[in-house]
Amino acid sequence: MWAARYPAKVTYFSDRTDVMAPFLAMEVFERAVALEAEGRSILHFEVGEPDFAAPSCAITATCEALGSNRTRYTDSRGLLELREAIAEEKESRTGIQVDPDQVIVTPGTSPAMLLVFSLLVSPGDEVLIPAPYYPCYPNFVRFFGGVPVYVPCDPERGFRIEASRVKSLMTGRTKALILSSPANPTGAVQEPSVYQELSNLGLPIVSDEIYDGLLYDEAPSCTALGLDSPSFVLDGFSKRYAMTGFRLGYVIAPEEAVRKLHTLAQNTLISVSDFVQRAGIAALRDGFSTLGEMRDAYDARRIRMVNGLRRIGFSIPVLPRGAFYVLAGAKKFGESSRNLAFSLLERTGVAVTPGIDFGDEAEGFLRFCYAVSDETIDEGLIRLQKVLG
Ligand SMILES: Cc1ncc(COP(=O)(O)O)c(C=O)c1O
Repeated sequence: MWAARYPAKVTYFSDRTDVMAPFLAMEVFERAVALEAEGRSILHFEVGEPDFAAPSCAITATCEALGSNRTRYTDSRGLLELREAIAEEKESRTGIQVDPDQVIVTPGTSPAMLLVFSLLVSPGDEVLIPAPYYPCYPNFVRFFGGVPVYVPCDPERGFRIEASRVKSLMTGRTKALILSSPANPTGAVQEPSVYQELSNLGLPIVSDEIYDGLLYDEAPSCTALGLDSPSFVLDGFSKRYAMTGFRLGYVIAPEEAVRKLHTLAQNTLISVSDFVQRAGIAALRDGFSTLGEMRDAYDARRIRMVNGLRRIGFSIPVLPRGAFYVLAGAKKFGESSRNLAFSLLERTGVAVTPGIDFGDEAEGFLRFCYAVSDETIDEGLIRLQKVLG
């Protein structure tokens, strides 16, 4: 069976890079692409890649910007017009006023995360992370010398975060709490009242809102904006606007944190490509209509995927209510999710992410992204049924 090879430690590398674990979703994806290049038919359920096209207005704006030579550096915080559009959009979605000066634009949500954790985490600081979690959170915390502390969330209860559990894990070293609703990999949606309770704990909150808007079954939208705690809202264009490859995201930060984040952005990023920022402005102004269409399609695919997986024997106690992932219990098919995922890829061409990527809490699970066509879902289920059914 194929497995990624990790080189032995090289003496002149810093120890810091050792604490960053490989991102298994990308490892599966990269192996899947290599198999495709060999002529294999691969079905991609492993990465969170919407199968919708980016809004046409964003593509037009990019081409026009390139045609008028908008190929230079911009303000490190991002173009004012984009920051104004982001503030307006966030305000229209949450009802909470956002000052464009609180916004720092980054090349994707991931670099925004990097800036925020570098601002918050000193060596030895603890950061509370509901588990299962998005793998980059603990990796970034460890990268800055911090210690991730996991808050287990029960699959049987829809991966709800319990404020009392969070409180019981707080110590004198606790520096921040990470939240995400809807969440990757679980599709869990929290209640706004839980955010309020968590805010009462008095910790800075890092709230990853990249899937906000992709909600089903009338699930509520949650934001950390407007809470009493200092909140760092991470967001971007990859999911809601199907613009993964544009690499465009942002952080909305408390006023007192902006100058520091700005300095970090000047040094690490300089600026986001001008023409990409123009695409962002166009998407915010005119691309919103695609969101409803995407959400309706994902909603139907969610049911198709979950029903099909349950028929094969995967355990999914509670329907995911947001984002476009389902974390499916697969213990009966193999103890190691990593071995199972790579073996399924080699044997069936079905690419899925091993649960262990999302922490020990998700070992024994596989994560399926259902932002793919009905045909891909059906064909994937048939192939899985043949080897597991
Ligand atoms: C929860 C979460 N946050 C952040 C990201 C990174 O997004 P971006 O493409 O904006 O860097 C992802 C990507 O899948 C994600 O699932």
